[in-house]
Amino acid sequence: MATIAVIGTGYVGLTTGACFAHLGHDVICADIDPDKVARLQAGEIPIVEAGLERIVEEALRDNRIQFVLGATEASRRAEFHYLCVPTPQGDDGAADLTYLEAAAAEIGPVLPADSVVVNKSTVPVGSTRVVARVLGRSDVSVVSNPEFLREGTAVDDFLNPDRVVIGSDDQEAAIRVAALYQKVPAPIMVTDPVSAETIKYASNAFLATKLSFVNAIATLCEKVGADVNDVVLGMGYDTRIGKQFLKPGPGWGGSCFPKDTIALARIAEDAGYDFSFLRQVLAVNDEQFDRTAEKVIAAMGPDGVVGAWGLTFKAGTDDLRMSPAIEVLKRVVAAGGRVRAYDPAVHKALDELPEVEVVQDPYAAVEGAEVLAVLTEWDEFRWLDFDKVSENMAGRAVVDGRNLLDRALLTRRGFTYRGIGR
Ligand code: UDX
Repeated sequence: MATIAVIGTGYVGLTTGACFAHLGHDVICADIDPDKVARLQAGEIPIVEAGLERIVEEALRDNRIQFVLGATEASRRAEFHYLCVPTPQGDDGAADLTYLEAAAAEIGPVLPADSVVVNKSTVPVGSTRVVARVLGRSDVSVVSNPEFLREGTAVDDFLNPDRVVIGSDDQEAAIRVAALYQKVPAPIMVTDPVSAETIKYASNAFLATKLSFVNAIATLCEKVGADVNDVVLGMGYDTRIGKQFLKPGPGWGGSCFPKDTIALARIAEDAGYDFSFLRQVLAVNDEQFDRTAEKVIAAMGPDGVVGAWGLTFKAGTDDLRMSPAIEVLKRVVAAGGRVRAYDPAVHKALDELPEVEVVQDPYAAVEGAEVLAVLTEWDEFRWLDFDKVSENMAGRAVVDGRNLLDRALLTRRGFTYRGIGR
C-alpha cells in the first residue's frame, strides 16, 4: 500500500483521498483553509456526497487518512501526489492554471526522490508537461489521471468506474499509478499525457452534446406532438445509443460540463481548429434555459408569483454552480417573477440571485403561487401531497422542467401540466 498526498479537498480531492484510504492506502489530504482542515479532521464533511462521510469516518478511525494544512506538509511525506486543485474558467474561456501552478511550485522543492505527481484536476491539454516544468525535478515523474466523478455518486464512480485513464511519458510511473487502483474492478488504460487530457474533455463534451441533442429533440417533440419520454426510451434500446444520459431537462449545468465544453472549444481554437459544432451545443443549452423560463413566464399571473422546487444543478448534491435552475430563475426574475424556492439541500439565500426567497418547506414555496416550476429532479418532489399544493397555490399551472411529476395525477387534480418535450 502506498502513501498518497492529495492537494486540495474540494469535491474531487476529498472523494479521491477518502476512496484511496478506503482501498487501503495511507492518505494525507492537504488544504489551505485551516477551518476546513480542522472540521475534516473531526470527521465533518463540508459537502453533500453519498457515502463520503462513512468512508472518511472509517479511514479516520483506522488512521488511514489525515488532514493537514498546506501542500508541503502532505507532500514531503508521500510517494504519490494528487493535484486536485480548482481550475476555474479564465476570462478568455481557457482554464485558469494559477492554483495548479502554485501547488506544483510549492511542492516541487519538498518532493521525495522518485515520487510521482498526478494531475487529477481537469486541465488544458498539455498541462501535464507544464506541471513537470514548474516542479523542476528531473527525479520526479508527472502523470495525468483524469477524474470522471459525478457529484452525488462520486464515491461509487471512484470505486466502480467504467475505466481508469492514466497518461504519462514515463511508462514506469504510469504503471505505479495503475497499481494504486489494483482493487478497482475496471479496465485501466495507459496512454500519453496529451491523449489522457483529451479523453477527459472529449468525454464531457460528448455527454454535453448528447444532452443538448436530447433537449433539441424535446423541442421538436413539442412541435410535432411526440412524447420525448417515449422517444428516448425507443432510442435507448439501441445499444449503440444507450439508455443513459438521455433525460431532457431545463438545460444542463454543474461545475464541469459548461466549463469543460467552453474550454475544449478554446483548446481547439488555439490549436487552429474552429470547433463550431461545440459552440452550437452551448447555444442549444442557452436556448433550453430560455425556453424553460418562457414556459414559466407564460404561466405567471398578474402578480408574477412563482413557486420553485429545486435549485441545485441536479439532485443528490448541494452544488449550485452553473445550475440550470438558477439560469431559468434569473430569466423569470428579469421578466418580473417573484420567486419563492425550496430545495432540500439549500438552506440560505442565493448569492447569485438574492431576489429569490429561499424557504425550507415545499408547501411554503408554493404559497400564493400562480405557477409551480420544478427545476431539479429531487425524487421527494414526486411524493408530496398535491392536494395540499393545490390548496396553497393561487393558480393551477405546473411547469415540470424535469418531467418528474406524474402528469396524469396532476391533470386529474385540475392542474395544467407542461413538461419538457411532451
Ligand atoms: C460530470 C460528468 O458526468 C463526470 O463524469 C465528470 O467528471 C464531471 O462532470 P456532474 O457535473 O456531477 O458530472 O454532473 P452530471 O451528472 O454529469 O450532470 C450534468 C448536468 O446534466 C446536470 O445539470 C444534470 O441535471 C444534467 N443531465 C444529466 C440531464 O439533464 N439529463 C441527463 O440525462 C443527465
